[in-house]
Amino acid sequence: MNTYYLTTPIFYVNAQPHLGHAYSTVVADAVCRYQRLLGKDVRFQTGTDEHGDKIVHAAEDAGVSVQEYVDTISAMFRGAWPPLAIAPDNFVRTTDPAHMAVVQAVLQQVYDQGDIYFSEYTGLYCKGCERFLTEKELVDGKCPDHLSEPERISEQNYFFRMGKYQEWLIDHITSHPEFITPERYKNEVLSFLKDPLEDLCISRPTTRLTWGIPLPFDRRFVTYVWFDALINYLSGLGYPAGQDFARYWPAAEHLIAKDILKPHAIYWPTMLKAMGLAPYRRLHVHGYWNMNETKMSKSLGNVVRPGELVAEFGADSVRYFLLREMSFGLDAGFSREALVARHNSDLTNDLGNLFSRSLTMVRNFAQSKVPQPGVPSPQDRELAEAAMAMLAQYREQMDHFAFHRALASVWEVISRANKYIVSTQPWELAKDPQQADRLGTVLYTLLETLRLITLTLRPVMPETAVRMGEALGVAGEMNLNNCGAWGRLVPGAAITPGAQLFPRLQREEKAKPQPPKNSAMQKSETKKEFSSETEPETEGIVTFDTFQKLELRVAEIIGAEKIAKSDRLLKLTVKAPEERTIVAGIAQHYQPEELIGRQVIIVANLKPAKLMGVASHGMVLAAKDGDRLVLSAVSGPVAPGSRVA
Ligand code: MSP
Repeated sequence: MNTYYLTTPIFYVNAQPHLGHAYSTVVADAVCRYQRLLGKDVRFQTGTDEHGDKIVHAAEDAGVSVQEYVDTISAMFRGAWPPLAIAPDNFVRTTDPAHMAVVQAVLQQVYDQGDIYFSEYTGLYCKGCERFLTEKELVDGKCPDHLSEPERISEQNYFFRMGKYQEWLIDHITSHPEFITPERYKNEVLSFLKDPLEDLCISRPTTRLTWGIPLPFDRRFVTYVWFDALINYLSGLGYPAGQDFARYWPAAEHLIAKDILKPHAIYWPTMLKAMGLAPYRRLHVHGYWNMNETKMSKSLGNVVRPGELVAEFGADSVRYFLLREMSFGLDAGFSREALVARHNSDLTNDLGNLFSRSLTMVRNFAQSKVPQPGVPSPQDRELAEAAMAMLAQYREQMDHFAFHRALASVWEVISRANKYIVSTQPWELAKDPQQADRLGTVLYTLLETLRLITLTLRPVMPETAVRMGEALGVAGEMNLNNCGAWGRLVPGAAITPGAQLFPRLQREEKAKPQPPKNSAMQKSETKKEFSSETEPETEGIVTFDTFQKLELRVAEIIGAEKIAKSDRLLKLTVKAPEERTIVAGIAQHYQPEELIGRQVIIVANLKPAKLMGVASHGMVLAAKDGDRLVLSAVSGPVAPGSRVA
């Protein structure tokens, strides 16, 4: 089948979008991008669910008309997705007249064929769930999701003969092992289906609720929210006559969290069966994002706003975190610290450094061109084979929604490639003209590895992948089937090293360190007005003239190695813009290989000095934080040699 149709839940507009909603929508976007990478014709749908009690109450609380309220919140959902690089093909609203007409047509059809009947019902109704709960579902007499006691309600209503389809549903689930995944949710549904399935109440009297779709055969009632909402998956395709329906429905897959498993795994397939339609192909169920062990939700007031995270970390970093941190199907805890840690370690250090070191070396040692590879050594072959194996694992895991595993296999290759740089030492090869072939092979192997990594990142971090693709000259590579072979980069083609992929983020500080008692900073602060040009130098304070004598420049590190017999010193080769050697006492804080490609600030006019027999032409600036030394940096890439003023 060459089509693919994936939906997210349509979200209630009783609350603004939070990270839980964003997760489902990021997952759906990543999966759709992945399916496109496989060459599929893809349709990705999301939207908002706008009828029901909850929404009327939310509008009342906000003091606006219901229509005004739903328009505003629906627009917030629609607007929340582009900043996260989420690009749905269709956004459904259940208040859209086209959707309402489809719901009414379906109701009429099912009623006409006798699968909807009128009856009286008494049951336990949970306002939060907007449905009747069975005694079995309660925990200590309360709804486990809303922690409130359901109300006993008795009323006349219309019912859908859901029970009639119970045997068919059990059969369908057991004969289609991947109908509901992960397996734990399939088992949950099958275990629920061991008891007789009751018919489903599908109406609400207009005396109780008017904000809904009127039943076409009895205007005293409106449709129950689930019968309305689930049909969005069809109305969004132009059902029944639309071409998109014929094209995409056979390939339909739904993505939800476990809170709405029952409506999707039981109501929806039986509704489809009653309508004479094929069931969807698959239902993918994920767990909850928790905050301090409890589900992130509006009612509990512990939500994180996706827009705030994007503003701070960037869309790709947030997407990566969500997909890498949660094992699909299980719950995961959200913390800002974990996000900062993933950003700094996986993105800035591992991926960002691999990319910038490799491209800087191609710029410095291969004139920014794809080098001609020579005969690969076992070491080169090992990396190439690992990269190809990664691609196969990645596909397997992505096919099964195991995003965290797919990304783990990509990061394993990133880490291998970083180690490969350390052991092949291209900067040493570059010094010896006899090693030109070998250098070409090493750089080519790195570039090809990066090209394959870029392909795998397209679904997950689309903006980063575009930047990487442009730098590697493969911006147009969009197909895993055609582009996943080794050795597609053409020697001589241009490579364009770009800006740093991910800026390093500051970790949240527990307590702000106080400046030392005798620091210049403190003195200037206590003096309040500090005019250095006119002041004579006093202890700890310098005049502007003195400061001007220091020549501070940005230098790019292009080589780094340990100095024999010293456990403190590293010999750095930097461009500032001329090449020079600087000895820096940072060996206990940095590995040589992680320095390549970094830009640091140096004192360029320091009198040369010999340290352990190596002449040092300048000094690298670093911050001392307790026992740690952290190198100085500029916040964006600049031409090596730029003055720091
Ligand atoms: N309107 C119904 C769905 C109708 S679909 C035909 C609804 N809306 S909702 O706004 O409550 O959204 C529920 C969905 O939001 C979950 O299934 C999940 O996709 C997402 N999430 C909301 N909170 C979440 C977490 N804390 N964690 C993960 N996903 C969460 O139910």
